[in-house]
Amino acid sequence: MMSEEATQILAVAKSVLAGTDPLPLPPGLSERAIETPWVASHFRGGERVLDIGFTMSSLDYLGLLLELRKSRGVTIEAIDIVKPERVVRRYPADWVADVLAVPITIGDVRTLELPASRYDIATCISTIEHIGFDEATHADPATAFARSTTADGVKLHRDADVNAKVLAQLGRALRPGGVLLISVPMGKGGPALLRDSLGLYCAQWEYDAASWREIVEAPEFDIVEQQFYRCDADHVWRAVSAPEDLVEQSSALQPHAAGCALAALRRR
Ligand SMILES: C[S@@+](CC[C@H](N)C(=O)[O-])C[C@H]1O[C@@H](n2cnc3c(N)ncnc32)[C@H](O)[C@@H]1O
Repeated sequence: MMSEEATQILAVAKSVLAGTDPLPLPPGLSERAIETPWVASHFRGGERVLDIGFTMSSLDYLGLLLELRKSRGVTIEAIDIVKPERVVRRYPADWVADVLAVPITIGDVRTLELPASRYDIATCISTIEHIGFDEATHADPATAFARSTTADGVKLHRDADVNAKVLAQLGRALRPGGVLLISVPMGKGGPALLRDSLGLYCAQWEYDAASWREIVEAPEFDIVEQQFYRCDADHVWRAVSAPEDLVEQSSALQPHAAGCALAALRRR
């Protein structure tokens, strides 16, 4: 059930947590190879965390969250529009009890009433690009999301205030000095058409310099760090300096992103 890729990335993330030298990852992996070890590098243990977009987590990232909870004294609470019980088959059987034990609030992070100043860390990894596009289904046994069987049927517009709303909500939930870890696909910018694992069509927002600024220059936060990576033609991820180095990249109808950006932002 766990892919070779997820197994390798989780092993590297765990070695980052343990402070040992991680083995280099092979070429040909998705952006998860950058994101999940990077998240691991920001934990010291004992933090109270709010994770946005928990339910459909890739297994490398989910494995990291469960490891933080089990062995590092990290408290995790989550938010998603989909209940984990709806997609329980996507989790390895021996993880299910631990996944379902994570307290989760079901709803749109933009509009839920979040507790003020409760969390040390908020994680929003490969999630904000889906907000405003994904819609949960509650009755359809075939798919957890309302998705289109044709490319033409996909809504490519999302509200212009998604970034501002999400950042304001996470700014409220974090304590002053708390840290938001956020990552996005980055490329030429704008809506990108995707096909999901069921072959259905959907869209995500691919970030560019302007839409990234809406995140890192949000008034609730100061930038601690930001990083940019490009997946080159040899399928190796390399660090680059700025969003402008990614303008040729596109995730449209690709199996994974061709560029990504990550930021740690401190709540003012
Ligand atoms: C691609 S998954 C990312 C999962 C995980 N963070 C990871 O990095 O593997 C995006 C998640 O965001 C959730 N999501 C989409 N729109 C949302 C919204 N408005 N509020 C909260 N969660 C949302 C989806 O249901 C899905 O679980």
